[in-house]
Amino acid sequence: LATPPKSAAQAAAPQIVRTLADLRRLTAEWRRAGETSALIPTMGALHDGHLALVRVGQAKAKRTITSIFVNPTQFAPHEDFSRYPRDEAGDVAKLASVGCDAVWAPAVEEMYRPGAATRIVPKGAALGLETDFRPHFFEGVATVCCKLFTQTQADFAIFGEKDYQQLRVVTQIAHDLDLPLEIVGMPTVREADGLAMSSRNRYLTAEERATAVIIHHVIVDVAAKVKAGADSEAACTAAATRLAAAGFKVDYVAVRDAASLGPWTPASARPPRVLAAAWLTKTRLIDNL
Ligand code: PAF
Repeated sequence: LATPPKSAAQAAAPQIVRTLADLRRLTAEWRRAGETSALIPTMGALHDGHLALVRVGQAKAKRTITSIFVNPTQFAPHEDFSRYPRDEAGDVAKLASVGCDAVWAPAVEEMYRPGAATRIVPKGAALGLETDFRPHFFEGVATVCCKLFTQTQADFAIFGEKDYQQLRVVTQIAHDLDLPLEIVGMPTVREADGLAMSSRNRYLTAEERATAVIIHHVIVDVAAKVKAGADSEAACTAAATRLAAAGFKVDYVAVRDAASLGPWTPASARPPRVLAAAWLTKTRLIDNL
């Protein structure tokens, strides 16, 4: 699947697009030339996990476009919108190193023009889990993703499995609304010790970083127990207790149907997914397996 990385000589800075009019011109050019495109939706603060998504996009389509937009509608007023890490120059350099063709980086006023009042309200996979703790979140994600899909008219959109519920929600939206693109999910890229890569990891102090990996350990443990036939609720309760003992404030540890994110039992025909979310002081970590 992997496209060989472009050599330094081949890698050119991606074209940075700030207005919808310029974006339409660029993507129309690509379509006129018969070129397919893959969108990698991001909020910037890029890490190797994002770059892996760009490489998947390159394997799928002729052109790749990474959106960098810290989307205010998916943050509640008390959340980290204003302190969310922003490093556009660093992000563009990373994207140049992997040969991404374009960056869609609109201002908030370009994305949400004056008077904008329409929102996509997903149900199904959006119910429960994150929504129990961040009720505004998927409405904001769904709305901006639909906008990104129609703005770029990409043939593929590449999402990481780290935000597993988000991946299921956008997959459902694309299906339910007959959106003419394929949603592609990619396995989580992890640090050497197993912690899922995340832009928010940079909030962690050295001490918190050492503790953070425990969220990965507990979901591995729950997955192993469920595979061995143990009671999934008991396994989740034990995992939550272990996280709390390590200093986490636990939002949830759950075993769900991997596709619908509805309830899962050993009698289910479909595989389960273990999902967890927990806070370490001011940083919220999520992971799944
Ligand atoms: O996963 C993210 O970075 C964001 O939720 C997304 C998909 C870019 C929408 O703002």
